[in-house]
Amino acid sequence: MTEEAVVGPALDWTNPLRDGRDRRLPRIAGPSGLVIFGVTGDLSRKKLMPAVYDLANRGMLPPGFSLVGFARRDWEDQDFAQVVHDSVREHSRTEFREEVWQQLAEGMRFIPGDFDDDTAFDQLRQTVDDLDKARGTSGNYAFYLSVPPKFFPKVVQQLQKHGLADAPEGSWRRAIIEKPFGRDLTSARELNTLVHEVFEPDQVFRIDHYLGKETVQNILALRFANQMYEPIWNRSYVDHIQITMAEDIGIGGRAGYYDGIGAARDVIQNHLLQLMALTAMEEPIAFDAESLLTEKLKVLKSVRLPEKLGEHTVLAQYAEGWQGGAKVLGYLQEDGIDPQSKTDTYAAIKLEVDNRRWAGIPFYLRTGKRLGRRVTEIAVVFKRAPHSPFDSTATEELGQNAIVIRVQPDEGMTVRFGSKVPGTSMEIRDVSMDFAYGESFTESSPEAYERLILDVLLGDANLFPRHQEVEESWKILDPIEEYWARHGKPAQYPSGSWGPEEADEMLARDGRSWRRP
Ligand code: BG6
Repeated sequence: MTEEAVVGPALDWTNPLRDGRDRRLPRIAGPSGLVIFGVTGDLSRKKLMPAVYDLANRGMLPPGFSLVGFARRDWEDQDFAQVVHDSVREHSRTEFREEVWQQLAEGMRFIPGDFDDDTAFDQLRQTVDDLDKARGTSGNYAFYLSVPPKFFPKVVQQLQKHGLADAPEGSWRRAIIEKPFGRDLTSARELNTLVHEVFEPDQVFRIDHYLGKETVQNILALRFANQMYEPIWNRSYVDHIQITMAEDIGIGGRAGYYDGIGAARDVIQNHLLQLMALTAMEEPIAFDAESLLTEKLKVLKSVRLPEKLGEHTVLAQYAEGWQGGAKVLGYLQEDGIDPQSKTDTYAAIKLEVDNRRWAGIPFYLRTGKRLGRRVTEIAVVFKRAPHSPFDSTATEELGQNAIVIRVQPDEGMTVRFGSKVPGTSMEIRDVSMDFAYGESFTESSPEAYERLILDVLLGDANLFPRHQEVEESWKILDPIEEYWARHGKPAQYPSGSWGPEEADEMLARDGRSWRRP
């Protein structure tokens, strides 16, 4: 490509306010490029490539934005562009516009190679330099490690060895890492040490895609932009909190990753503990990465595990069952799963937060695959009114007040409270008041990966967990995993159900029951 091919950015990219922190300016990434390792993987095809296109289509990428794929495939640039094209046509959220596609496709390059192939990394370095000249990417590159964790060390070392991790004067280099961030505290620490030998902490962006979801960000808006929730968001009014992430899918083709990891490590360690931290934390002094980290970390450090882990935690596996009218296999019959496997596909745990706001209030976290339906929600369940002037027959059908943040799929919020049933007698029953995104906003939500990739390009770290959070989360999970490794087999639950009886018993012991969302 010639010098004339440089696509000059029309906006003033040197404006320091354009780092995305000034909300009055449009959040548009400055000159930059993205290198994806593991570009042939599922995540890349289903999420990353469509997210890049959608960002371009929404006008949030600079005109010279460049996308470089790195993988062990005998592809030319145009083969890679074709793969991106197909994935965009299949998975992107915005309409396909030929002119946007063309501009993006001109900046696509592919590097074939293994992660220990020095020539390939030299070629990557050369490509990045060439793109700087041809497309005006100004040396600003994010490296997305969409690869199994066993390859992290190699890729990070190669980036360092080939001078790709060091940003040229006036530009930036960032590393994006996907979970799992280790499989326990020890391995997470090793991983952090290794990454931080090459990249400074503020160059590292760990993806927890739940933090990229609109509804998850809305937890903070709901709590801290309003007056009416915070006064009751504490142990004086709240009875308990239930955080549920239920999936109807099984493990699909992910046996290799999932077996030996299980539900608790796969999603409680990251997504659910993050949801819990956002629900329980104090108001941050500002909406910036440092302040959010400070508050989330305080929650994670204050978490107390139940003394009797056998009574207040449950791990289970899905057995055969029925889903959507079809018979489905049990976990142990799935392709690639060890028939003796003790891996959990369901986990429920009770935690408490030892601080003034929450002392004595249980947080029940549960997740599972092949459950009744796909739903993620946070339910804040309130204590009963201290006194009722009504006859007990009037309130027979009355449950506890609740605020339910519906993370997905029906994004919104429900408030449950008692109301008089119309009629000549005094009978009180539960009713719901609903807020639904679709009804209140005409704006569409960006997909989580779209938001997160844009944030990396803008250097905005608000929605990325730091390594301290990762470590604290493992400290919570490790004793539970160790307990279950020592104490036998996971319980069973039929596919399509709401989990094992043991999980119902766990709440019944506390005089409570799980919601059936
Ligand atoms: C991933 C887990 O982090 O989240 C998967 O590894 C899980 O096992 C997925 O299916 C769920 O994400 P979402 O956005 O569909 O709720």
